[in-house]
Amino acid sequence: MAVSPIRPETVMDSSLDALPALCSPGVARAAHASPADPIAAVTHPDPYPWYRRLARTRAFHYDVSLKLWVAASAAAVAEVLDHPDARVRPPGQPVPPALAGGPAGDLFGRLVRMTDGPAHAALKAIVLRYLVGLDLGLVRVRAHALAAALPRMTGDDAHEAMRWMFTLPVLTVADLLGLPLERDADGHVSTRVAGFVSTFAMAMSPLATPAEVEAGAAAAQWLTQWTHDCTPSAPAGTLLHALSQDTALAGIDTPTMVANAVGLMIQACEATAGLIGNTLVHLGRTGQAAGPDSCADGLVAHVARLDPPVQNTRRFMVADATLCGQPVRAGDAVLVLLAAAAHDAAGEVAPTAAGRPWTFGAGRHGCPGDALAQVLAACTVQALLSRGIQPARLVDRVRYRPSVNARIPQFDVQP
Ligand code: HEM
Repeated sequence: MAVSPIRPETVMDSSLDALPALCSPGVARAAHASPADPIAAVTHPDPYPWYRRLARTRAFHYDVSLKLWVAASAAAVAEVLDHPDARVRPPGQPVPPALAGGPAGDLFGRLVRMTDGPAHAALKAIVLRYLVGLDLGLVRVRAHALAAALPRMTGDDAHEAMRWMFTLPVLTVADLLGLPLERDADGHVSTRVAGFVSTFAMAMSPLATPAEVEAGAAAAQWLTQWTHDCTPSAPAGTLLHALSQDTALAGIDTPTMVANAVGLMIQACEATAGLIGNTLVHLGRTGQAAGPDSCADGLVAHVARLDPPVQNTRRFMVADATLCGQPVRAGDAVLVLLAAAAHDAAGEVAPTAAGRPWTFGAGRHGCPGDALAQVLAACTVQALLSRGIQPARLVDRVRYRPSVNARIPQFDVQP
C-alpha cells in the first residue's frame, strides 16, 4: 500500500474531553496525550476515546497535514469501502515503488488484496469459497498438533509470546494449504517458512528500511519457488490442491495462483499476531483467566471488536465522486478508520452490515479469513497459556511495533 512514511508521534491535546471511560478492555486510566493524528493512533496506548470523538464530530473530513481524506464514523467507513471508484491501489501504481521490478513486487502485484476489477472478483470468489468452507474443528486439531511440535525455547515469557504470535498461525495456514513442513529428528517443526513470511510482510510496510525491502525480495523469491514446486504434490483435500484446480478452470495463470497461496500465509501473519498479542494484553490487564478453547474464542472475538489489530486501511479514488456528501477528486486518498468505526456508538450495535468486527473490513475487499483468523488466535493464546506464559508479566513492558495500520504489541524481554 503506498503511503508516506509517517512515524507515529503524540502531542498534548488540552481539548480532550476529560478522558472519558476507557473502552479498550482493561486499560488502566492513565493521562495519555491524545494521538496527533489517525496514524499515531494505531500505536497509541489508548486511542479509543479519541477515535470515538472523531467518529462523532468529524465523520468524514480532509486532514491537511496527512493530505488524506479520513473516514471515521461507521457510516462513512461503510460508504467508502462500498464505493465502486474507491480502489486499493493509487491509480497508475499497482506496486509500491520500493518493491517494483523484483520478486517482492511481482508477488505483491498479483495479490487479490492488492487488485481490483474482474481479475479480483474471479480470484476472490475462489478464495472466499475455500476459506468460508474450512472445517474450523479440523483447523483447531491441526493448530494444536503444530503447537505440540513447537517446543518452548526460552524461559522468557515475552520472547516466547512474540515467537508464537508470528509462527503458529502461519504454520497452520501452510499446513492447511498442504505445504510440507520440515521436522527435525525429534519431530519438532521448523519455523523457517514463518520467518520468510514475516520478512516479506515487513518489507510491504511503508516504514521498511532498504535492508528490510532487500530481505523481503529474497523471502518472496523463496516462498514463491517453494510453493510453486510443492503445488503438483499438494494432497487432495488441501487448500493448495483446490486453489490450483479452480484457478486453472477459471483461466487464472499459475504465477497468480501461487502468489495468492503465498498471500494466504502473508495475510495470516501480522494481523493475527496483533490479535493474539492484543488478547494477551487484555488478559494481562484484566487478570482474567482464559479457560478451554471455547472461552478463548469469546475473548478473541471481544478483543477483535474493541482493541482491533488492523486499525485502518486505505482507498484511492479513480474518478471524481461524492463521498459522504463531499466532493472528492480522482487520485485522492482516503484513510478508512476501521477502529473508529468499531467505537462509533452506531457501529457498536451492528459491527458491519455482515455482523463482523470492523477490523476485518467490509465490502468487496472484506477479509475472507475472519473466522479462520479468530480460531488461529484462540488456539495460539491457549497454547501459550498452557505452556505457562503469564500475561500479567507481559503487560508491564508492552509497547507497539511501529506501523501505519496494524496494532501489534511488542513484548520486551525481561531484563
Ligand atoms: C486477525 C487477523 C486478520 C485481520 C484483522 C484481517 C483483516 C483484513 C482486512 C481489514 C482486509 C481488507 C483490507 C481492505 O479492504 O483494504 C483483509 C483482506 C484479506 N484477508 Fe484478512 N485479516 C486477518 C487474517 C486473515 C487470514 C488468517 C487470512 C487467510 C488465511 C486472511 C485473508 C485475507 C485475504 C485473502 C484478503 C484479501 C481480500 C480482498 O482483497 O478481497 N486474513 N483482511
